[in-house]
Amino acid sequence: MPGAAWFRMPVVYTPAMTQGRPRGFFLTFEGLDGSGKSTQIRRLAAALETRGHAVTVTRQPGGTRVGDRIRALLLDSRTEGLDPMTELGLMFSDRAQGIAEVIRPALEAGRIVLCDRYTDSTEAYQGGGRGLGSEIVLRMHENLCGGLDPDLTILLLAGFERSLTRARRRNGRAASAGQDENRFEAEDAAFYRRVYDKYREIAAREPDRVEVIEGDKSIAFIHQEIVKLVEARLARSREPGQGAER
Ligand SMILES: Nc1ncnc2c1ncn2[C@@H]1O[C@H](COP(=O)(O)OP(=O)(O)O)[C@@H](O)[C@H]1O
Ligand SMILES: [Mg+2]
Repeated sequence: MPGAAWFRMPVVYTPAMTQGRPRGFFLTFEGLDGSGKSTQIRRLAAALETRGHAVTVTRQPGGTRVGDRIRALLLDSRTEGLDPMTELGLMFSDRAQGIAEVIRPALEAGRIVLCDRYTDSTEAYQGGGRGLGSEIVLRMHENLCGGLDPDLTILLLAGFERSLTRARRRNGRAASAGQDENRFEAEDAAFYRRVYDKYREIAAREPDRVEVIEGDKSIAFIHQEIVKLVEARLARSREPGQGAER
């Protein structure tokens, strides 16, 4: 029945609908481990799909076959002796692959891309946490990511202690399920403090792109807040003249 098939067709942001912009909408999620990124991405993806949007969910590191291998190397606590520059290089190797294989094609098809961590994570963890500084990260982003900046970034900054507790609980569960992604979790509180502070710095530097969700609110409350934010941005990105330069 053609009518029913049409009803199920996802809404995509075709060039005609976006005044010549052949792009979907690129949304990234940031925050410390345990801040609720994966939880909120799952909920938002479901909410957007219910509203008829075509959604692609991915994560970094990972999200491609090559990326999953890089992820294992980066996050496995048995990985030893990784120089901070090697770590930085691997993060961007993963990102370049994710952009080429998943993100760019999805955006070109007009889809909404939800990405769990992106360059802000590298700036916060390698730039801040490892002390490599922002400049090298931003330069690599410029050179390796083809200028692909998110349309919107949701930064989940729950209380510092709360985030650490959640991350430890979650990683305890993951470890008993046979997954080991604890290399970063093994870092001390000072490392996380530097990551946290760098996230704040990024948010202050780019207030138009980065929306900070502060505090220890419930999963449902944060979800509603995110839905509102995203709907407002999507409406804005469809206005004439928006994004034509990208
Ligand atoms: N707002 C919240 N309040 C309480 N618990 C939360 C909240 N958001 C997430 N959690 C819980 O914290 C843990 C980590 O959440 P998760 O989404 O995996 O974080 P991330 O992907 O950022 O590491 C999970 O057990 C999740 O259910
Ligand atoms: Mg997660």
